[in-house]
Amino acid sequence: MTENENEVLVRAEGLYKVFGRRTHDAVEKLRAGTPRDGLDGVTAAVIDASFEVRRGEIFVVMGLSGSGKSTLIRMINGLHEATAGSLTIRDKDITKISDKELREIRRNHMSMVFQHFALLPHRTVVDNVAYPLELQGVAQSQRVAKANEILDLVGLTGWGEKLPSELSGGMQQRVGIARALAADTDILLMDEAFSALDPLIRREMQEQLVELQEKLHKTIIFITHDLNEAMFLGDRIAVMRDGRIVQIGTPEDILTDPANDYVEQFVQDVDRARVLTASNVMEKPVAVVSSTAGPRTALKTMRDAYSSAAYVIDRERTLLGTIEDRDALKLVRKGERSIMGVIKKDATTVNADDVLMDLFVPAVESKLAVAVTDENEKLVGVIPRVTLLAALGPGPGSTEEITLPLQPVPSTVVDQVLADSEDGQPFEARTVDSKEAF
Ligand SMILES: Nc1ncnc2c1ncn2[C@@H]1O[C@H](COP(=O)(O)OP(=O)(O)O)[C@@H](O)[C@H]1O
Ligand SMILES: [Mg+2]
Repeated sequence: MTENENEVLVRAEGLYKVFGRRTHDAVEKLRAGTPRDGLDGVTAAVIDASFEVRRGEIFVVMGLSGSGKSTLIRMINGLHEATAGSLTIRDKDITKISDKELREIRRNHMSMVFQHFALLPHRTVVDNVAYPLELQGVAQSQRVAKANEILDLVGLTGWGEKLPSELSGGMQQRVGIARALAADTDILLMDEAFSALDPLIRREMQEQLVELQEKLHKTIIFITHDLNEAMFLGDRIAVMRDGRIVQIGTPEDILTDPANDYVEQFVQDVDRARVLTASNVMEKPVAVVSSTAGPRTALKTMRDAYSSAAYVIDRERTLLGTIEDRDALKLVRKGERSIMGVIKKDATTVNADDVLMDLFVPAVESKLAVAVTDENEKLVGVIPRVTLLAALGPGPGSTEEITLPLQPVPSTVVDQVLADSEDGQPFEARTVDSKEAF
């Protein structure tokens, strides 16, 4: 099996789980359009679910209690047999294989983290973590070494000899995660794994999971009823309602383009600052000049953008710094041709994938709209403060509080200077047209 990034590890197609009697009749009725609550004496927990989980992603299944999330994950780990449809795990349709094969897949390819930790109370922490290795028949000394290694990874160095009851809830769940990691399976199933934890600990665990994932590149199916958690963790999210998947998309997709009123209602109180990134809200930069431009061009660009300063980029769009109108003005008056001497290396930059929460301080400190750069330091956009505030929806941060640290030189003055001086260069030839450049 190739281990490329887009490899699909889990694929569900038209998957159903109906509890009760004559379940296959119920599936036929559902397929024919009978609504879920029009079925007698059965519960349709999962209805016609189709999705793919790719290697290395965190795929979140999100929905209210009773929407079918746990049933879905239990079909994936083989605890529930599907009523209809297919479920493929690493090229094997597990609805069609023998129990023995299924056990083999579960043991070698899937680990589960439970909401209530499910640790063995009379075993030490290290023995809990080593337990799946014991099942795999790994020798004692090797098990302990491996378990201790993983305890280090989840931040529990030195806690191995304690009993689970001596640990806080957050720490116990780290043991749960360590145990799931010990078996070294590629698929990690987490059903409401953080839901029993206090909010602050929960946030910490979410962050730790993201950190771990950056190192380990597991394929994680994470179930939650908490939209903020889903948005924070998920590379993609499947939203479930009454047994059906109503939308699958990235957190940004779901936030900015909800598939229906239900999803829209759901996302209304999401913490946008933790979900949206700089690249989601950035705008095309207008106050931008090329480092080869003359001071007149720079000044004209600033005037056209109603800005007191501009970003300066080189031919490769690498951000060099900023230029202020008063400096450009001086150069024009002196008849200088180059702006290189007055470029300030004070640009406030953020990365395209920074979340909005991390942009507030830069936005306050920046004299210009914050510059957004890609991994190669190239300018890809800007975020004016008002855009940042607007992206977060109406709130206490009213735009009236914004004060500009620099007052632009009045444009009538600029026009006068531009008319009086001659640096021999027509503006247009040197103006960086932002629409073309970006
Ligand atoms: N073993 C079961 N027998 C009968 N009904 C079940 C069983 N497990 C779950 N259900 C029902 O299936 C629906 C979905 O449940 P579940 O998958 O646990 O939802 P979630 O995890 O989203 O809260 C619910 O109506 C629940 O009562
Ligand atoms: Mg559940």
